[in-house]
Parts: sequence; structure tokens; C-alpha cells
Amino acid sequence: MSNTRFPKGFLWGGATAANQCEGGYNEGGRGLANVDVIPYGEDRYAVMAGKMKMLDFDNEHYYPAKESIDMYHRFKEDIALFAEMGFKVFRMSLSWTRIFPMGDEELPNEEGLRFYEEIFKECHKYGIEPLVTITHFDCPIHLIKKYGGWKNRKMIGFYENLCNVIFNRYKGLVTHWLTFNEINMILHLPFMGAGLYEEEGRNFEKDKYQAIHHELVASAIATKIAHEVDKNNKVGCMLAAGSVYPNTCDPKDVWEAYKSEREGYFFIDVQSRGYYPNYALKEMERKGIMPIMEVHDKDILRENTVDFISLSYYGTGLVSADPEVNKFTEGNAFPTLKNPYLKTSEWGWQIDTLGFRTTLNALYERYEKPLFVVENGLGAVDTVDENGEINDDYRIEYLKEHIEAMGDAIDKDGVEIIGYTTWGCIDLVSASSGEMKKRYGFIYVDKDNDGHGTLERKKKKSFYWYKKVIESNGENLEF
Ligand code: BG6
Repeated sequence: MSNTRFPKGFLWGGATAANQCEGGYNEGGRGLANVDVIPYGEDRYAVMAGKMKMLDFDNEHYYPAKESIDMYHRFKEDIALFAEMGFKVFRMSLSWTRIFPMGDEELPNEEGLRFYEEIFKECHKYGIEPLVTITHFDCPIHLIKKYGGWKNRKMIGFYENLCNVIFNRYKGLVTHWLTFNEINMILHLPFMGAGLYEEEGRNFEKDKYQAIHHELVASAIATKIAHEVDKNNKVGCMLAAGSVYPNTCDPKDVWEAYKSEREGYFFIDVQSRGYYPNYALKEMERKGIMPIMEVHDKDILRENTVDFISLSYYGTGLVSADPEVNKFTEGNAFPTLKNPYLKTSEWGWQIDTLGFRTTLNALYERYEKPLFVVENGLGAVDTVDENGEINDDYRIEYLKEHIEAMGDAIDKDGVEIIGYTTWGCIDLVSASSGEMKKRYGFIYVDKDNDGHGTLERKKKKSFYWYKKVIESNGENLEF
């Protein structure tokens, strides 16, 4: 028995994103989105980062989001499995182009709206609360082709239209909303985060910050509408979080780490405090990338701050001020040095459980708002043994240690945390690599990197373990 203490009503569950699990990319009147045309294979990173333009399918690439794990047709079976584990909450995202296939229509696609309504009702059937990310790396292709993605101010209006429709339609079915998944990802993977790609003659950095401003204003407007439509609505921002350590105690390294953390905090400073922090204004000014802001933007940001701070946590970062030392290793699109004190996953992601506690404390102290951990988990290779079982002890170990660290943050440090949804509660397509082999789930899905497999679902050992964790409200972490 562990001695962690989670508050009554703590929201245990799992998380997914539409493009990584739905599939059915051309069904139900759905339009094409940026996330559909991000291929598997060596060009994936270049497309996500906006270094290689890809706005449609071609014959040379395989596009895993087309089918993903086919949750579009199997959501009832999947939600029943989540319910069997005792989920209190299910984090999912909307595919914008199911609701507005082009993005700039006035009226929504009823079939798309009905699809999500059915999902929400199915969740409620089991007492599962849906937690909905409005956009999880999702932007209609038409809006990219015609308007240039989020660097165009018109995007705010299209997003606002989407928000109006969903908040009204799903009133009473959904009360927890996230505006943009990992909003800071735009700095690292701008095509994925904002439909931006490098164009000759344009200042890409400037475009990025203009797009960021539009997303921040859109997020505040979404918060405003959500509160107006239903006072029970709670809206959160979402940060790809993780404290950053200095490589040495050289003050230069410490300063570098400090700056690196602020790159991410900047977004939440605006979304939670309601204004641009001075350090960001100064830097944008210095670099000549100050976005164009309209007069009333300031008021919109100030008056519509988020209710809670959500985050994904996979590990911490390590940086140096010395360019020689900075030989970057892999990370969740975030470059980091190798920390000699930490173990890594099979994909080179550094595992840091105490860093989780540090990160939670840092965020809570900075914003003094409840936190919601909406992603955490281990991407690993799973094998089905000769008895047809999947013994993923490594995953259980990882989650157990992270839940303990989160319990310490709550119990020993007084950090307020609303809930915890593990990433990829059912195996799904990896965002960074497009692989199926990088699995996070409690539920195995029979499909490989090239798209072969029966799509059959199978419970892993961690499925039974997580069920006990939820049943005991995080007190029983043994396996
Ligand atoms: C986060 C994203 O960056 O990390 C998810 O919000 C993503 O979409 C998750 O899947 C894990 O990353 P990956 O690359 O292992 O799928």
C-alpha cells in the first residue's frame, strides 16, 4: 500500500487525440486536416516542423492518421473498456473538420456533431466525464491553403464559430474543456501546432509569434464563450511541461535553464495571468517579431483567463550555455542534453519522477490555480507472449512512480490537482514518430507501423493494475 493521498472525486482516467485514434478521415462528411497529411517515415519531422510543405496525400508516403486505430467505428467497445477500468474521466479531442469540413463555413456538419454527441452520451452512460480538447494539433487544410493558417487573424473568427457551436450543442454533456493542446508546441512543430510552413521571403519566426498571438486571443475568446454559455464550464490551457535543469552550477547555465523554462511559461503567463509578461515583450521587440495586436486584444486576454492549468509531463530538460556542450539528444520535440542521473525510455526520453513533483510545484506556485495532469506515460514496445498475454511491468513501474510523485506534490506540498489522465490509454499512433510500435496503452491494439493488423483490442497487465489504482483512489499502487 502506498501512502499517497488523493482528494475525494479525483478524476482518474486516460487521454487520446482525434487524429491519433479516430481514423475515418473521409467519413461522415469530414474534411481534410493538417494532421491527416503528416506522413510516417523520415519526412515526418520535416513536415511537422514546417520545413517540408505537404498539404495533400501523395503516393510515396503512408499516412497513419487515415485509419489510426479506427476508434471512429469502435468507440463503443473502447469506452466500455475504459469503464471497466473505472475511468472517471476520458480526455479526447474534436476533429475540427468533422464539424466544419473546410473551417470557414457558417453552418456546421450535423453528422460530425452527432458523432461526438454519441461519444459523450456513451461516456455518461458509464459515469465517465468527457474532458475535451478543442484542438489537438488540428487545423483544416482549407484554412491553411486559403488563409495561411494561424498567422492570419481570420483564424480567430473561424475558431470562435467552432466554439460557439460546440459549447451550445454539448451544453450539459461536457463541462471540462482545453483550448489548444500543448500550445507551446507551435515553437517546435509549427505545422502541427498552427498550420505554418516556411515560405520564401517570409520571416518564419515572426509568423510563428503572430500565430501564437492569434491562438492566445482565440483561447481567451473560447473561455469567454464557454463561461457565457454555461457557468458550469471550466476551461483550461495546456502546456507541454517539464522543468529545465542547468547542466552545471555555472550561473550562465542556470540563466540558460531559466530562459528555457520561460519559453513555455510565456504562453501560460498570458492565458492564466491575462497579459504578456515583460520579458516576452522585450524579447519580441528586440528580435523584431512583435505581433500585430488589435486594441481590444488586451482586454480580451485580461478578462478571460483560464480556470485551471493542464499539462503533459514526460520528463525534464537539461541545457547548457556552452554551444560546444549542446549536443542535443532526442526529446518530445524539445531538445535536451542527456542527464547522467536519469534512465531513458526506448525512444530516448528521459524519465524523471522527482522532476514531475518539481514541475507540479513550479506550475502551482507560479499560477496558484488547480492543475490537471492530462498526459503522462511511457511509450514502449509491447510483445504478446505465447499465452496471448502482454506483461507490461515496465509501464506499471513508470506510472506507479509518477503517481507517487504526484501524490507527494498533493499530500506533502499542498499542490491542488484535479485529475490525472494517462496518455494513450489505448495504443494509438505516436505523434512524434507516426509509429504504432511506440505504445502507451492499457489496451493493446493489433496494428503495426505499416498499417497491418486486425485492430483487435486486448487488455494488458497494466489494465488490471490501473483498475485497482482507480478503485482505491490511488492508494493501492502495488502489482
Ligand atoms: C504529446 C502530445 O506531445 O505527447 C501527444 O500531446 C503525443 O499528441 C504525446 O502523442 C506522446 O508523444 P509521442 O510522440 O510518443 O506520441
